[in-house]
Amino acid sequence: MTPIQKPLAVALCLAALLSTRVVAAQNVSGEDLYKQQCAACHSVQKDAPQGMGPNLLGVVGRPAGSVVGFPHSKEFKNALKGKSWTPELLDKWLENPQKVAKGTYMMYQQPDAAVRSSIIEYLKNTK
Ligand code: HEC
Repeated sequence: MTPIQKPLAVALCLAALLSTRVVAAQNVSGEDLYKQQCAACHSVQKDAPQGMGPNLLGVVGRPAGSVVGFPHSKEFKNALKGKSWTPELLDKWLENPQKVAKGTYMMYQQPDAAVRSSIIEYLKNTK
């Protein structure tokens, strides 16, 4: 490779990487995104054993922090007291939980609005 070809090859690889990320958001189902990004900590199965995070079965529309037996952080309880998980609140939460409840235990951020919206659509159908 000549010295000029090398940066070009690097740039092409980067372009390929970036475009797969975009395609991923368009072609991967909400369920698959959920499995990739949430399932390590959250279950959507009824009566599943407690994970690192609370069960998310039917989370859209339900009062925040209402999973019986899950030890929510004090920060979570204070910030979300009396609120319910509307799609809008979930969207803010997934973008950056620390902005909704500073100090929450959930370590996750999703800057891509299309990915957030697919996951929220999937969660609406878990009942
Ligand atoms: C690294 C583990 C982890 C990942 C990954 C994760 N979460 Fe969480 N999540 C948590 C923890 C821990 C809490 C409890 C937060 C607290 O009590 O401060 C939580 C809380 C929540 C809540 C509040 C539920 C309630 O009881 O009201 C929602 C909604 C949620 N997560 C959605 C998601 C979604 C959707 C994803 C994937 C896009 C995700 N989380 C990814 C760990 C995680």
